[in-house]
Amino acid sequence: MNSAFSTLARRTREPPISWLMKLTLERPGLISLAAGFTDNESLPVTATRELADNLLASARTGRPALQYGSTAGDLELRRLTANRLAELDQRSYDPDQILITHGSQQLLYLVCECLCDPHDLVLVEDPTYFVFLGIAQSLGFDCRGIRMKPDGLDLEHLEQRLAALKKSGEIKRFKFLYLVTYFQNPSGITTSFAKKRAALDLLKKYERAAGHPIFLLEDAAYRELRFLGDDVPSAPGSDRVIYAGTYSKPFATGIRVGFGVLPEPLRTLVWRLKGSHDFGTANFTQQIVSAAIASCRFKEHLASLRKRYAQKAEVMAHAIAEHFPDSVEWQKPRGGLYIWAKASKVSTGAKSKFFNAALHKKVIYVPGELCYCDDPSRRKPNHEMRLSFGGATEHDIREGIRRLGALLKRA
Ligand SMILES: Cc1ncc(COP(=O)(O)O)c(C=O)c1O
Repeated sequence: MNSAFSTLARRTREPPISWLMKLTLERPGLISLAAGFTDNESLPVTATRELADNLLASARTGRPALQYGSTAGDLELRRLTANRLAELDQRSYDPDQILITHGSQQLLYLVCECLCDPHDLVLVEDPTYFVFLGIAQSLGFDCRGIRMKPDGLDLEHLEQRLAALKKSGEIKRFKFLYLVTYFQNPSGITTSFAKKRAALDLLKKYERAAGHPIFLLEDAAYRELRFLGDDVPSAPGSDRVIYAGTYSKPFATGIRVGFGVLPEPLRTLVWRLKGSHDFGTANFTQQIVSAAIASCRFKEHLASLRKRYAQKAEVMAHAIAEHFPDSVEWQKPRGGLYIWAKASKVSTGAKSKFFNAALHKKVIYVPGELCYCDDPSRRKPNHEMRLSFGGATEHDIREGIRRLGALLKRA
């Protein structure tokens, strides 16, 4: 019998994030170092209440906030976003290049929908953001991994990959390179500006063989959660660069306001698709973000958030140094929400003895294997854990790491 469901619906598997959340909810008292949640205690409740009160204090400001907005997003928020990016990157941005989306996740999905047909090809970092791999799985395009170095992508590997794709003719299916460039989820690595420029140059070299433009999608979700070192400029301005940013992480995850900076004609295509998805991001939350930025509440909140994450990262790093065996490789984070720990001799996958033992001890992490795409040219690594210091309390971070450490020593 024929199915009533579309190929896309039937192809889409349950996202690992739902499964991880279900596990957490089913086991009260479980310490989750898995969830990508932000710090609960520092969510800006008072600031948001005051901003909402101000917005709703008169019909003049309240009514537009409670009305539908435009598909591209609130013009004032696009202006403020362009100014903030200009300040960060020391070059100018035009509000008309910007689309406001329901979190940067929606932007990632829309870009994939616009650029990829089933069986097209996208290059990703190895490892990469596992929810992005879910988009690929659902839309039916293939991903291939590019190895990472401490300052980002392994350019030699990228070049080898591109040359091989050209040789096999698969370059014609290759659409874009996806990079999570700041405090990468999951590895914590930040890509240097020089690497972004070099990657763009390389992509450009293969456009003739591909027969179409090849884009670089820069996902900067964690850019502003930096607590050590200097900011790195985003990829150079180019009609091949797509930049995905968010106000979820640096302000409030529940707000789900993200944005994209897109070159034409891609911006128009993404805008049209967004029109069909929702014809505009929730106006009320956009106006809250606008008001937060305009009133400096955003800046103040971000400054305190950075201190808070610096402290939580320190707690996790200290606990790992104390409890994990020396054979486990990891780096002290300089931003973001994660520590990526590699236990070369222990399988950490979702079906491993170790993962089950951790569950039994009521602690959970994201198995590293979930962050690797299905790439037939290598075996999926299975020895890593993504440990988040975002959502858990300091007490739970210490206790969770202590329990994992005891299990690692036994394993
Ligand atoms: C790398 C990365 N990109 C994008 C997102 C999406 O975030 P949001 O939709 O809240 O902006 C996340 C969320 O965890 C992420 O880790």
